Amino acid sequence: MRTLIKHALAATEPTESLTVKGWVRTRRDSKGFSFLELNDGSCLANLQVVVDAGTPGSEHLPHLTTGASVTVDGNLVPSPAAGQKWELRATRIELIGQAEANYPLQKKGHTPEFLRTIAHLRPRSNLFGAVFRTRSRLALAVHQFFQDRDFVYVHTPIITGSDCEGAGEMFRVTALKGNIDDKPQTDFFGRPTYLTVSGQLEGETFACALSNIYTFGPTFRAENSNTARHAAEFWMIEPEMAFCDLEGDMALGEEFIKAMARFALEKCAEDLGLFNKFVDKGLNERLKFVVERPFVRVPYTEAIEILTKAGKKFEFPVEYGLNLQSEHERFLTEEHFKSPVTVFNYPREIKPFYMRLNDDGKTVTAMDVLVPGIGEVIGGAQREERLDQLQENMKYHKLKPEDYWWYLDLRRYGTVPHAGFGLGFERLLMFLTGVQNIRDVIPFARTPGNAEF
Ligand code: 4AD
Ligand code: MG
Repeated sequence: MRTLIKHALAATEPTESLTVKGWVRTRRDSKGFSFLELNDGSCLANLQVVVDAGTPGSEHLPHLTTGASVTVDGNLVPSPAAGQKWELRATRIELIGQAEANYPLQKKGHTPEFLRTIAHLRPRSNLFGAVFRTRSRLALAVHQFFQDRDFVYVHTPIITGSDCEGAGEMFRVTALKGNIDDKPQTDFFGRPTYLTVSGQLEGETFACALSNIYTFGPTFRAENSNTARHAAEFWMIEPEMAFCDLEGDMALGEEFIKAMARFALEKCAEDLGLFNKFVDKGLNERLKFVVERPFVRVPYTEAIEILTKAGKKFEFPVEYGLNLQSEHERFLTEEHFKSPVTVFNYPREIKPFYMRLNDDGKTVTAMDVLVPGIGEVIGGAQREERLDQLQENMKYHKLKPEDYWWYLDLRRYGTVPHAGFGLGFERLLMFLTGVQNIRDVIPFARTPGNAEF
C-alpha cells in the first residue's frame, strides 16, 4: 500500500515497511549513500530519502535526476537533520520514469512568467503546488459556507441567450458554418446563444422558489482587457437571497470574505506559510486584520468626494457618473481606508438594468466590495422587484422586455425583495495567497491570445 508523503511526514512514531511514490526534486550523492528529496504533491514539504549503496535498485541512482518518478520502500525513522522530523531509510528503490536532461524545472527560483509558458509542468513547483492545493480547499470552503447556512446549490446553464450584465462582452456559441448572423433561427438552439457572463438571472428564478441559493461555476467574458485581474474564463460564486435587501447583501458579502480568510489561515497553514515568505510578506497579518475588523461602508457619492480631495494624480478622471477604475478602488482600500471597503448606491447609468432604483431616482442599490491588492472582488445588488420599474429600467438601458419575459414573470407572480452578488473565485484566491496575477491562480488561463494548454 502506498502512503502519501503528507501522511508519512505527519507520523507520530517510527514506521517500518512504508511505500511512497513521487517525483525527485533533488539528489545528492555522498560516500556510500545518496539523499533524495521526494515530493508527491500531497503537501509542500519533501520527504528526505536515504539510499545506502547496495540497496536493491540503487544501481538506477544515476537516473534518479530531478523530475524522475520513483517508488521507494523503506523505514520511517527520526531524522538527525534540522528542520525535519522524519526521513525514509530506503530498503528498495525503483525507477518508474526517467526525466530527460532538459527537464525545465531544474532550478529553484523560476519566475511566474516563465512558469506560465510551461503551464503543464508548473503544478510540480512549490509555488504552484501550494496555489492549486489552496484553490481546491477553498472550493470546499465555499460550499461549506453556503450549505451550513441552508443555501441551495444551483447549476445555472453555461449556454444562455441573455446578456445579464448588458455589456455585450459575450462569446457566441454556434453550430453554423459561414456567416453566423445570416439565420440565427436555423442555428442549433434556434436563436443566438452565448457562453454565460453570469448565472444571476437564472439564479434569481431559483431564489424566488427556494429562498437562498448559490451558484459556483465557470463564467466567460470576451472583454479585451489584458490586465492582471481579468480572465476570459473564470469561476464565479453567486449567492441570491429572497426577502433580502441591500443591507443583508452587504452583510453576507462581508461575512463570506471573512470566513474564507479564516478558513485559509486555519486549513491552508503550510501553503500560506510559503506565500507569506516568498510571495507577500504581509499576507498573514493582512488576513488576520480582515477577519477581525468590520469592513468600511461608503456610498459611491462619498467615495467620489474622497477621491476628488485626495490630491492624487490618477490616470483616469474622477467624476460623479463615471465608473471607479482599478486605481481609484485601490486608493480607497489600500491608502485611504487601509481596509476592505464596500461602496454602495452607484449612479444608475453605470450599472445594469436589474438593480433597484433608489428613491432619489438617480442611484441604484449596487454594492462592490474592494479589497487591498485587488480592488473589486464582489459586485452585487438588491434587485428591482417592482414590475413597472423594471420595465422602465429596461427601456432606460435600451433592452427589449420580450427578451426577458421569464425574468419579468418573477415580478408578476409573488414578487419579493431580493438581493445577491457575484464573487470572482480567482480574485478571492489572489487576495488569500498574495499572488499578483490572475493567470497564476487558475490552472490553465484563458486570456486574449492565450489558449495553448
Ligand atoms: O461585477 P460583476 O460583473 O457582477 C455580475 O456579474 C453580477 N451579475 C453578479 C451578481 O450580482 N450575481 O462580476 C462579479 C465579480 C467581480 O466582482 C469580479 O470579482 C469577478 O466577478 N469578475 C472577474 N474575474 C476575473 N476575470 C474577469 N474578467 C472578471 N469579471 C468579473
Ligand atoms: Mg462589477
